Order: sequence, then C-alpha cells, then structure tokens
Amino acid sequence: MTPLLSVRDIRKSFPGVKALDGVSLRLDPGEILAVVGENGAGKSTLMKIVAGVYTPDEGAFAIDGKPVAFAGVGDAMKLGIVLIHQELNLAENLSVAANIFLGRELVRVGSLGWLDDAAMTARSRDLLARVGLDVSPRALVGTLPPGQRQLVEIARALSLDARLIIMDEPTSSLTQKETDRLYKVIEDLRKQNVAILYISHRLAEVKRVADRVTVLRDGRNAGELARDEISHESLVRLMVGRDLRQFYPRRHAISEGTRTRLAVRDLTFAGGRDPVSFEVRAGEIVGMSGLVGAGRTELAEALFGLRAITGGVVRLDEAEVKTSGPPSSIAAGLLLVPEDRRKHGLVLSETIRDNLILPNLASLSILGWIVRSRVGRLCADLMSRLKVRASGPGQIVGQLSGGNQQKIVLGKWLARQPRVLILDEPTRGVDVGARSEIYGLMDQLAGQGVAILMISSDMEEVLGMSDRIIVLHEGRVAGELTRAQFNEEAVMKLATGG
Ligand SMILES: Nc1ncnc2c1ncn2[C@@H]1O[C@H](COP(=O)(O)OP(=O)(O)OP(=O)(O)O)[C@@H](O)[C@H]1O
Ligand SMILES: [Mg+2]
Repeated sequence: MTPLLSVRDIRKSFPGVKALDGVSLRLDPGEILAVVGENGAGKSTLMKIVAGVYTPDEGAFAIDGKPVAFAGVGDAMKLGIVLIHQELNLAENLSVAANIFLGRELVRVGSLGWLDDAAMTARSRDLLARVGLDVSPRALVGTLPPGQRQLVEIARALSLDARLIIMDEPTSSLTQKETDRLYKVIEDLRKQNVAILYISHRLAEVKRVADRVTVLRDGRNAGELARDEISHESLVRLMVGRDLRQFYPRRHAISEGTRTRLAVRDLTFAGGRDPVSFEVRAGEIVGMSGLVGAGRTELAEALFGLRAITGGVVRLDEAEVKTSGPPSSIAAGLLLVPEDRRKHGLVLSETIRDNLILPNLASLSILGWIVRSRVGRLCADLMSRLKVRASGPGQIVGQLSGGNQQKIVLGKWLARQPRVLILDEPTRGVDVGARSEIYGLMDQLAGQGVAILMISSDMEEVLGMSDRIIVLHEGRVAGELTRAQFNEEAVMKLATGG
C-alpha cells in the first residue's frame, strides 16, 4: 500500500533549539498513529510541519507517494490535511458557526456574496451533534469553556472533509464523557478511511485509540510500538528511557482530626448557581471532579478573587477572608494555578526568568532592590525541580512547548509557601516524567501543611492523588467520596447527576 503520508529525516531548528533532529514516520490511510514523547520532544513541531504551518529545514515528505512542499496551511488543507492545535486557535468574538466556517463561509446561491447564515447554522448544528456538543451555533466562542472550544475545533475539522486529521492533545481539556464521545468520532472517521495523527500524554488513551505508536525523544525517533506491544510500561520506558515507579506518591496520608484550613460556607458568586460549601484540611489534597461546565473553574476564580462573591463565608485558618481581588488572596496565602495558562497564568512575551520573578519580588529583593543571585538561584532551582526544557532562563515563555509552559505557571507559586493552593488542571499537557515530579511536589507541599484543592478532569489523577473527592454537578456539590469509596463509576455517577 502506498502510505498516505511519509516523512523522512526531517530537521527543524529554532534559534538556540534543535526541535527536530532527523525524524521519520509513515502513516497509511485510515490508520491511527499516536505520537508520544516528553514535553519539548518535538511532537507539535512535527505536526505543524505536516500541516504546512512550518517548513522543515531539511528532509523529505510525501503524500500518496508524491513529494510535496507546503507554502502554508492552505496547501495542506487542499490535500485534506487538517491540524487541530494544542493551544486552541478560535476567534473568540465570533460565533460557533462562524468559527466552523471561517475562511470558507457558505454563500447564498444566486446572491452576490451574501452569507448564507441559515445554511451555516444548520450545518453547524449537524456537526456539533456529531461531536456531542450541546451549544447553539450562534453562541460566541469566547463564552465557552476550553473543553467545549476543543469540540468546536473538532467539528471544524470534520466540516473540512479531511483525509488526515492531526489532533494535538485533543482531550487535554475534555472530561471523561466528552473523551468517550471523541473516541466514537474517531471510530467513525476510521471507518471513512480518514487517517489520524494523535498526540497525547494520557497513556491509557493512547492504548485505547492507537493502531501504532511512534515515540519521539529529543527531536529523534526513540522507537515504535505495534498495537499489541502498547502498555504503560513500554511507553514510559521509550519516552523517558527508564521505569517510573510510584507514580502517585502519596506518602503523607492525612490523619483524622487535622484542622480545617479552608472552609467555604454557602458561597455564592457571579456566574455561579447554588450556594457551595466544603472544607479542605491542612495537608489534605481534595480532588474536585465534574463535567466541563459543572462550575469548578468559576468556583476557583471566585475563591481567588477573580469573580465577585455575592454571599457566604470563606475562612482561612478560622479567620474570615474578604477577598477584594487576587492581590489580597495572594497576600493571605491563597493561590491559584489557573486552567487557561495562556490567558491568566503567564506573560507569554516575557522570559522564563521574568515570569518566575513577578510573584516573588518580595523574597527576591532587599530594600526594593532585586538581588540577582537570589533570582539566579530561584530560576535554577525551579527549572531543575520541574525539569523545564528550555535553552535557559532567558527564553521567551511563548516559545516553550505546551507542557513546559505549564511547569512555569506552577513554578511561579511553588516558591511562595502557600497556605491554600488551588490547582486547576495542574498536569494538563504535562508529560509523564514531569507529571510524576508535579505529583511529588504536591505531596511534599501537603506534607508541609498546605491545603490543596485540585480541580481535575483526569480520572486517574483524581483517584490517585486525592485524600477526598468532591464532585460538582451543575454548580453545586453533588457528593463527596472518601478514599474507601473511590472508584470511577462512583465519581461519574455523581458528576452526571445520577
Ligand atoms: N516557535 C518556536 N520558537 C522557538 N522555539 C520553539 C518554537 N516552537 C517550539 N520550540 C522549541 O522546540 C522544542 C520542541 O517543541 P514542541 O512544541 O514541538 O514540543 P512538544 O513535543 O509538542 O512538547 P509538549 O508535549 O510540551 O507539547 C522545544 O524545546 C520548544 O521550546
Ligand atoms: Mg506540543
């Protein structure tokens, strides 16, 4: 069979970084090839080359056996290649339908370029139904949570009648239910002989969807696994070059009678629904589960002072806190690592150093002067603890790979000895090696008495790291599970309102 795609010895460098150092791969029609590797291994760069976003410095690449060179995404699209970006790429101020048809709007027959809104809305409705997204085609994309935006991107790819769809971490902001839906979409696509390149850090997912896996390490091919060779262990070994033991390292199990650190009573806030009450004890990791749209991120934002609180009480170590905004929350020791790092967590145009310094100015300066040696030590310490892959602390954060950006967001707060740490999807897009580092850090912080509220849509992570799980459904606490009651079905049942 002539491969649909064949890529040979591709090289691509950015200033100071060799992103791809001779990568090869092939893909047959209708095949689902997973591409895995640590953060910064070069996965997204390779995908962007295949989709015509970047041109390679060297190497050959062919579609249907014919050599091609793309001058832009338009060329790739003409051959049926569509990329769903890792960092979503939608126009926030346009409607869902407008985004789906952006650049190739349907025009009313016989008119002089009048847009056929009715037709676009109707077709959008079909496409949205296919991906299981229940929103109006007229809704503004900017008002949708990340999980739903992801589904809009997928709907857009479906509308293009692609032969090869590249999905760069498609499920990183989807919940279990939406992920299952995506698997169905992928099955349908396979039946229609559409090939898929699938990038994911969730190894269970790779095992489930992939026909074959290619592993990248440091911009090179590290190995390949056929369907029946795919296992958690074999993947990890190829990716990080060693075994990872103790993946969920909870050494500091919480004991009975530990004092309450964060107490939330009948909290209501702008954009919220019913009053919410819960507690997190010192040294406890509470997992917060729920479907996309359950209101978890909104709750976190209210606690951090990003949303107006309209009623109820928040107590920190028994003292009532009146948040007037993030600065007062930070001063009180209540910190948030946000879900949307590109919007709230980082200054993308600044260096790693500046991003790390920003929230830590006080501890880095004496009498208002920044002490360079302290800055150097902080950067070196955080970058090595989190294994940040970058050319150095002077690299611009916007150029880092997705997972490495997430590590910088976390790093910012780790230097600050928080009392309460709210983590919203802390390992989204983070590779297995770094993930186990982050889990280790969380465990360490809990051991020091920090109360951690971990919002997560990653079921394994919630079950593996939490002392207790609170499940939100449509803006209220649907239930709570103690360790003895932990299992996937119980969480799902509460999350779906059952
Ligand atoms: N536009 C760019 N400018 C400079 N360096 C870049 C750029 N894009 C990527 N890089 C660098 O190239 C390397 C590979 O990045 P890439 O985004 O392909 O990794 P990845 O495998 O997708 O990682 P992740 O799992 O974190 O998404 C990284 O070191 C990254 O910092
Ligand atoms: Mg990537």
